[in-house]
Amino acid sequence: MRIFENLESQVRGYIRSFPVIFKSAKGSIMVDEQDNEYIDFFAGAGTLNYGHNNERISAALIEYIKADGVVHGLDMATIAKKNFMQKFYDTILEPRNLEYKMQFTGPTGTNAVETALKLARMVKGRSNVVCFTNGYHGLTMGALGVTGNTFYRDEAYISRTNVAVLPFDNYMGPDFNTLDLFRKMLTDNSSGLDMPAAVILETIQAEGGIHIASPEWLRGLADICSEFDILLIVDDIQVGNGRSGDFFSFEEAGIKPDIVCLSKAIGGGLPLAFILLRPDLDQWKPGEHTGTFRGNNLAFVASYEALHYWDNTDLSEAVKYKGAVLKRELTAIAEKFPELNAQVRGRGMIYGLEILEQGLPGQIAGKCFENGLIIELAGADDQVVKFLPALTIDEETLLKGIAIVEEAIATILAEKKVNLTGEM
Ligand SMILES: Cc1ncc(COP(=O)(O)O)c(C=O)c1O
Repeated sequence: MRIFENLESQVRGYIRSFPVIFKSAKGSIMVDEQDNEYIDFFAGAGTLNYGHNNERISAALIEYIKADGVVHGLDMATIAKKNFMQKFYDTILEPRNLEYKMQFTGPTGTNAVETALKLARMVKGRSNVVCFTNGYHGLTMGALGVTGNTFYRDEAYISRTNVAVLPFDNYMGPDFNTLDLFRKMLTDNSSGLDMPAAVILETIQAEGGIHIASPEWLRGLADICSEFDILLIVDDIQVGNGRSGDFFSFEEAGIKPDIVCLSKAIGGGLPLAFILLRPDLDQWKPGEHTGTFRGNNLAFVASYEALHYWDNTDLSEAVKYKGAVLKRELTAIAEKFPELNAQVRGRGMIYGLEILEQGLPGQIAGKCFENGLIIELAGADDQVVKFLPALTIDEETLLKGIAIVEEAIATILAEKKVNLTGEM
């Protein structure tokens, strides 16, 4: 590991949680250079919804490269791009009666968010944007401005302005409808809230600690947006692409956002990002928002193949089934170890086990890694153990991974008891 310590910036992150050198990966298993195997419950932070080196995707990529398919083409027309767009329209948009245009951005999530914010501000001619507590939208300046966690928001970074942060659903507990506050602030000339161009949110806040907006709250928010002529931007970068059990996380609520941000798993494991925008919002001048890596032809090839998972409802049903398995097993763990005071939250195949005792979630994740499971934390204080396996994981591997978590908790709690008794 010395080469990473010597040559790579201190900013490196996940390498610290998982300090081995990986050599290969297939499906939900990663292998390090000592041939140790790890079950992957992190899935590239939601990029590998179809698993590592998905057979169908890899085969198509190899064939495309062998045939000298265009790898980089700026935003020129290519066969890979045409096939992808047609497939996305036929498989995702049309069956859901969604009328959107697609705007390709730089290939990371934060690029899509920047584009969405810029477009909303341009179209509405207003600079203010509303975002929510615990939201995470990326770390370039605009996206950072609508991201909640102070860990990322140093005052010296400037440019976090023209943003108002409001409480997300349930932020104030179940008896306080946070939309009442939003409405009051919009109608009160003295609230200090400038009329926003847009509202941006994740329907399931992932990095922020698995907070789930209820369908009623989402519908209420969509109603407020249309009543006050505010654009609704859903950032579906992490919890879209099937993570919730539907392709888009907002389908359950039956809302139609004005702009949708997509990245991570939409590229079938390769970098790709774009926004979906209501056709009347497409007011750009040609080339006005440009970039060298808008559209990645290899990702178009990969994504085209991944979209075949959406030709029928099999994957969607499997996600709902395995989500129920996750919920059942995590609830059982919470009940088995009442001293954890753990709360289970999730939807589809994103689940969190919130444990408020400082440092304990980190110890659990560390012990899991020692025992062959890659699992990460979420939440402002790293208080949530986050379950984010590939959507294609088989049930046996899923249960094996959960058993590693259970064993890690049992070991740590037993060690704590021994220490306490020793001290007495
Ligand atoms: C909801 C959401 N939006 C935006 C981003 C930023 O994506 P990227 O890290 O690719 O810039 C993330 C990343 O985790 C995310 O979860």
